[in-house]
Amino acid sequence: MEGEGAWPGRGSRVLWGRVLGGVIDKTRLGACPGRAEKPMRRWGRVPSGGGANGLRGACPDRGGANGLRGACPGRSPAGGRGGPAGTGMGLPAALRDQVAAVHRGSALSERLRLYDGWAARYEQDVAALEYRAPHLAAASLSFAFPAPRAEARLLDVACGTGLVARELHRRGFRCLHGVDGSAGMLEQARSTGLYQELRLCLLGTEPLPAPAEHYDAVTVVGALGEGQVSSTVLPELLRVTKSGGFLCLTTRSNPSNLRYKAELEAAMGQLERSGAWQKLLAQEVEYWERATTEEESTQGTGYISGVVYIYQKCPVPHLEEG
Ligand SMILES: C[S@@+](CC[C@H](N)C(=O)[O-])C[C@H]1O[C@@H](n2cnc3c(N)ncnc32)[C@H](O)[C@@H]1O
Repeated sequence: MEGEGAWPGRGSRVLWGRVLGGVIDKTRLGACPGRAEKPMRRWGRVPSGGGANGLRGACPDRGGANGLRGACPGRSPAGGRGGPAGTGMGLPAALRDQVAAVHRGSALSERLRLYDGWAARYEQDVAALEYRAPHLAAASLSFAFPAPRAEARLLDVACGTGLVARELHRRGFRCLHGVDGSAGMLEQARSTGLYQELRLCLLGTEPLPAPAEHYDAVTVVGALGEGQVSSTVLPELLRVTKSGGFLCLTTRSNPSNLRYKAELEAAMGQLERSGAWQKLLAQEVEYWERATTEEESTQGTGYISGVVYIYQKCPVPHLEEG
């Protein structure tokens, strides 16, 4: 099921988004398994599977009648500024090699060493890749998150250089903590001045440096994937999230990540069935970032697709409306 939206400045209609399930139906927020289905906040019904007022094809921070339809700013379809799909995908060989290296299933210490070495060039390189995950994740989380945002405490897991913090800060979040396993990436994140706390943490090996039920929201953007952070980290993310708090996670849907994605979604489903959290959104985005090889490209578009998931930890405390 795909949605359409206007591509800014091109006057064309494009297909770019697909709702996979668990569509944000704000009348159901607060409806954890085993709880009475009391609405936590009433945001207007979004019919499951999308629709005129739904989220399909939506860029969550664009204007419009429902504030959610249309293409993302700064995006161009394949054949636009990204150039046509083709040999080498029009990207420098050094960049393609760098991406391949960090996604290779190397030992954790080796992978983090690669990130240390990439840190200074990371933002420039991901801009060339038209990497939109931080923007899409922050926009989706902001849509789900109840106001006010300024005092809400957020943990940005695998924060890298701070691209997610930049997007969250733009949307009014001010209390941002970050963790990452790469000292080089953390140094870049520190230089942004956007995080109140930054800590080195080896995910999958060490617990998160936070007490239980500490954060109003937790994000993991661009790090849940093959050769990156294991899906076994999910219970630890839930541990540090407050009841009723939000988790914003992303993964990629390119061929070499499909096994990981299936594993991740199985773990997510298991946690949902056990009543640990409820899915609010799983949105597939076709133009997630540029592909670095033809094999990874979705149907010759020159791009790979990805998914943003928003979950809410159960039980969700009931808030009075009004
Ligand atoms: C692709 S970057 C994403 C950074 C940032 N979230 C973004 O979207 O720009 C992946 C980050 O995950 C971190 N990382 C990967 N595996 C990790 C692990 N096991 N423990 C801690 N950090 C890890 C890397 O150091 C890197 O900063």
